Amino acid sequence: MFVIGFEVNTMDVYDSIVSRRSIRRFQQKPVSPVLLKKFVNAARLAPSAANLQPLEYFIVTDKELCSMIFETIGWAGYITPKWTPSTEERPVAYIVLLVRDINNKYYQRDVSLASENIVLTAEGEGIGSCILCNIDKKRVQEVLEIPEELQVDSIIALGYKAEYPVLEDFKDSVKYWRDVKGVLHVPKRRLDDLVHINRF
Ligand SMILES: Cc1cc2nc3c(=O)[nH]c(=O)nc-3n(C[C@H](O)[C@H](O)[C@H](O)COP(=O)(O)O)c2cc1C
Repeated sequence: MFVIGFEVNTMDVYDSIVSRRSIRRFQQKPVSPVLLKKFVNAARLAPSAANLQPLEYFIVTDKELCSMIFETIGWAGYITPKWTPSTEERPVAYIVLLVRDINNKYYQRDVSLASENIVLTAEGEGIGSCILCNIDKKRVQEVLEIPEELQVDSIIALGYKAEYPVLEDFKDSVKYWRDVKGVLHVPKRRLDDLVHINRF
């Protein structure tokens, strides 16, 4: 099945939601520009408050630009000592989310919905992603020569996965952690602790 020239992925949306984890280690294999544009297409079609669609998207695949963007990112704040992906496991592409009108009071919700569409579409294609807000926005703006009427909001790092984080039930901390084999464990609050049906 095709929608506006893009193949619709066959992975069930719920399966993508369940299997997606933030990926911070990537294979050094390029992601095709067609796929990257597909992810932006998914973002563009996200719900938008008053349908104002205040967002634009900047795809980065150029090696030199990728290196410069990499330097602007703060990775995995809970991991100590400070950790960043090694040269052999850096993202091979980025999508930078740009906001045309920050006076739009719902723009952050639009960013969130667009971001989720990107990461889920990527997951459906077997591509790992990580939403990044701990970034030097001013530097990203300079490096990519983004005109000042657009504001850098966040970045999504992308690439084929070189790690497979595991989910675990939240016990006493929300902090993700790496075990001795380097596997990332991500605690999630339990469904029965969050859901209220008919009464509190
Ligand atoms: C708004 C937002 C900002 C984030 N910023 C960063 C970031 O700057 N650096 C990073 O390594 N991860 C970042 N993350 C990823 C989160 O750490 C991750 O989503 C969380 O630990 C849950 O793990 P999961 O995505 O695998 O479910 C961000 C996620 C969101 C939603």
